[in-house]
Amino acid sequence: MLQGKTTLQGKQILLVIGGGIAAYKSLDLIRRLRERGGSVRAVLTPAALHFVTPLSIASLSGNRVHEELFSLIDEAEMGHIELSRAADLVVVAPATADLIAKAANGLANDLASTLLLATDKKILMAPAMNLRMWLHPATARNVQRLKADGAAFVGPADGDMACGEYGPGRMSEPLEIVAAIEAALMQDTTVPLPPGVGRPRTVGGSLAGRKVLITSGPTLEPIDPVRYIANRSSGRQGHAIARAAALAGAEVVLVTGPVSIPDPAGVDTRHVETAREMLACVDAALPADIFVSAAAVADWRVDEVGGNKIKKGLAGTPSLSLIENPDILAHVAQLAQGRPGLVVGFAAETEKLLDNARAKLARKRCDLIVANDVGEGTGVMGGLSNTVHLVTLDGVESWPPLDKDEVARRLIEKMAALFGPLASGDQAQ
Ligand code: C5P
Repeated sequence: MLQGKTTLQGKQILLVIGGGIAAYKSLDLIRRLRERGGSVRAVLTPAALHFVTPLSIASLSGNRVHEELFSLIDEAEMGHIELSRAADLVVVAPATADLIAKAANGLANDLASTLLLATDKKILMAPAMNLRMWLHPATARNVQRLKADGAAFVGPADGDMACGEYGPGRMSEPLEIVAAIEAALMQDTTVPLPPGVGRPRTVGGSLAGRKVLITSGPTLEPIDPVRYIANRSSGRQGHAIARAAALAGAEVVLVTGPVSIPDPAGVDTRHVETAREMLACVDAALPADIFVSAAAVADWRVDEVGGNKIKKGLAGTPSLSLIENPDILAHVAQLAQGRPGLVVGFAAETEKLLDNARAKLARKRCDLIVANDVGEGTGVMGGLSNTVHLVTLDGVESWPPLDKDEVARRLIEKMAALFGPLASGDQAQ
């Protein structure tokens, strides 16, 4: 990442680049987004390929560029639905008259228009076109319709056009688009479905008919009514596993500590604060076929939490007496009755990664430990990618650095494969 403000740290932008002369500005837009810590996946329409090259976009974004709807490699690596949903915001820049018309009418005959129809995130459009096209009643109607559907717009600005005319239709400058993106991301960008729909398919997936219970995020342990102890955890990996399990057809219960990311679609998400609340919530959600403990549970809590805020300076520096929190993973893994068929823990370590992970596997008696190095400079904490090692009694399987969503997808496939031999085949009741 380049130096600068980090207003977009941890945010994923899906940038759809339409076929207009303003597409050259999208190169600068990508730079500006990355400068601020954002990550960018770009999709080019066939017409955009006449104005910018996938190579220049890939070099600037650091991610491969997607162009075609029916690409087998893409579908195997990341389907177009997943691509449209992994982002925090979908940005269309330049939004041509054609793309706007397609989106307004729900057409989906290429990757870009399909993503706009399939996404569950807000869409921000930065229109760019000739002024007569922009002022045409058909475009005005389409823009009105998209606004009514919830899309946001930035620009277009007045100015000289590439075609020699003067008027509205110039794409906003990259920094204005960045400001509109930052503003859009201040709010929850997930577009909710009507109640009762949206549960991912439950037949045919590798975990169809199975119940998966997952913990995610940190726990907060109060010191007094305003202060707390916590672990660093964005919840991204645990939430991604919940989403992937739901997409694999499982019934998913996610028990999460306080995080700033949205609840995953199609997942029964329950919110808790402390380790003891998390344990109670996990117990209440059992039985389950698979338990995944991805939460960064605080190891200790303050023994006696006062009812009032501890005042500075009255009696010197306060000293805290800590006591150990319950180990939720060990508790579930060692249940005498109703132990899930597969129990998966995480080991976030800053040193002796595999030794610590093996020790944890034995001590807690789980079936699989997902070990990751979270030492300084790895960027795992709060970041979008992860390098993991799967530790079981059979040995260690190391994976290359992957998107947290891709780690989640592969983990779910692994769990589905491991579940068969470990479980008696009975479903959680
Ligand atoms: O012992 P350590 O905290 O390093 O172990 C990490 C694993 O144990 C993670 O899977 C975490 O979710 C789980 N854990 C837990 N309850 C605790 C501490 C850790 O479930 N109190």
